[in-house]
Amino acid sequence: MKKIAVLTSGGDSPGMNAAIRAVVRSAVFHDIEVIGVFQGYQGLVDGDFKRLNVRSVAKILGRGGTILKSARCEAFLTVEGRAKAYDNLQKNKIDGLVVIGGNGTFTGALKFYNEFKFPIIGLPGTIDNDLDGTDYTIGFDTATNNVVDAVDKIRDTADSHNRLFFVEVMGRHNGFIALSTGIATGAIAVMTPETGITVDGLVQVLAEGQKSNKTSSIVIVAEGNPSGGAYKLAQEVMQRTDEYDIRITVLGHLQRGGSPSCSDRVLASRLGVEAVESLLTGAVNGMVGVVNDSLVHTPFEKAITNKIDTLKDEVRIARILSI
Ligand code: F6P
Repeated sequence: MKKIAVLTSGGDSPGMNAAIRAVVRSAVFHDIEVIGVFQGYQGLVDGDFKRLNVRSVAKILGRGGTILKSARCEAFLTVEGRAKAYDNLQKNKIDGLVVIGGNGTFTGALKFYNEFKFPIIGLPGTIDNDLDGTDYTIGFDTATNNVVDAVDKIRDTADSHNRLFFVEVMGRHNGFIALSTGIATGAIAVMTPETGITVDGLVQVLAEGQKSNKTSSIVIVAEGNPSGGAYKLAQEVMQRTDEYDIRITVLGHLQRGGSPSCSDRVLASRLGVEAVESLLTGAVNGMVGVVNDSLVHTPFEKAITNKIDTLKDEVRIARILSI
């Protein structure tokens, strides 16, 4: 292993830069040359490469986003696109690849490995925390802190006006962000695929809250909630009762920005070093993560399976503490 490449793909997440820095510096430490690939898999298909050295990654540890840019690449979904990517890696004499991203990134990585047996290793970089084989993904901690900060502010105004707020958070297919932040902000209800609360169930929970003299209430809604997002839910509740003065906030992409937290920087740094050392030992075709504070390797195939069962405890806690 003399030369490796690194890219970030899918939705960006705070801490991706810390991971890039760790990959570059640990590679240089082990006498390996590093190439940065721009725009995720698109850069691999187009040959958008640039050599990185230890100074190229100076002062990025605390910066949100990704200096390598990110994209969701249509071309890499095709056999021809992946063949072009492989050619570019061969032409540039690259021996191994580190991909930092989430579900879609690892689905692409798995296909690529199966087709070309090219040594590839993944780092979990997504705010969604929905990858099996790691307790936390890089960016989840910062994103949930962003949400908590915003909801605490919403709570101030909600309480001043005795209002009910519906706050929508990210998480297309699951409620990791919603459940953690719902617990952390004292939400009256958390609407996610895992909690399975119906609109009628929600109306009942709200009525109970009113009976117990709640002055303001926050409902956290995961964008992937089966009975609808914040706007739809608010409308459904209004159709059933006029008891509440309702407002809606969709937090959107502010969740993904900002300086990464200490936890995300440390996680990204640990995983970045491990990724390079895994390429050196040949432990490839999988993701490196941290489980019970130990570094673990998980095949891509397993990493992309949903681990929603792990949310059972959060569902229960959120319900108990919302009374
Ligand atoms: O996968 C990360 C994520 O932020 C999801 O939570 C969200 O559904 C999606 O990306 C948004 O994607 P985009 O930035 O492409 O709109």
